[in-house]
Amino acid sequence: MRYVAELHGIHLERIPEHVAIVMDGNGRWAQRKGLKRTDGHAAGEEALFDTVNGALEIGLRWMTVYAFSTENWRRPLDEVRFLMNFNERLLLGRRDELHAKGVRVRFMGRRGGRVPGRVRRIIEDTEKMTAGNRKLTLTFAFNYGGRAELADGVKRIAEDAAAGTLDPKKVDEKTIRRYLYRPDMPDPDLMVRTSGEFRISNYLLWEIAYSELYFTDELWPDFRRESLFEAIRDFQKRDRRYGAIEE
Ligand code: IPE
Ligand code: IPE
Ligand code: MG
Repeated sequence: MRYVAELHGIHLERIPEHVAIVMDGNGRWAQRKGLKRTDGHAAGEEALFDTVNGALEIGLRWMTVYAFSTENWRRPLDEVRFLMNFNERLLLGRRDELHAKGVRVRFMGRRGGRVPGRVRRIIEDTEKMTAGNRKLTLTFAFNYGGRAELADGVKRIAEDAAAGTLDPKKVDEKTIRRYLYRPDMPDPDLMVRTSGEFRISNYLLWEIAYSELYFTDELWPDFRRESLFEAIRDFQKRDRRYGAIEE
């Protein structure tokens, strides 16, 4: 691990604990090559697994990837269907390998609604299978929206307050965190977005309050572990102040 990090100019003492990625640009990648948009999604698989292997090499503990947003249902039915089947196949095809490498696979997002039962079952099986792993927690934000997450949390807070199990006067930031989808997940230190878009697109709204943001023009299917290392080197040059000033 030390060798790989040093080789890439990464300081092991300052590896981010959690990197969140918006895997964007699959459609444009395919269009530029005269392929179908869905070929771009398929090509994103290699990008993801190379990046995961890079994360394992440098000892990153948490990585969260945006795989399908609550807004992505607005796409043509064919593409939505492809993405559902694709994620199912990807899990089935890769989970043994991830498990063997010590990766804990988790999901965050709305599980009900329009996610096919078949996909939900694979998700739950994969979470169960890899629940004991601790090297890297790879979270798929799937049918995920930051506002949906907050709305779902507020709803549960209101329910618990009405039931008398939560004192409304005591609701603070810590309470809200407990009602997010993944309360034990540390906030991302670094958020990476590919494809040259400078927006958040409803990703991890609460959690990225103090994340460092990194944007690259690279399209997701071209992203590799070296791209992750580049983002981390950039992150390691930053000065995180959290509202305070240098003493
Ligand atoms: C990101 O690539 C993948 C998903 C949203 C599922 P896009 O499909 O958004 O690709 P572009 O942004 O249209 O190029
Ligand atoms: C964000 O990308 C969602 C995922 C990568 C899954 P989009 O391509 O959906 O975001 P917008 O529409 O450009 O904001
Ligand atoms: Mg996009």
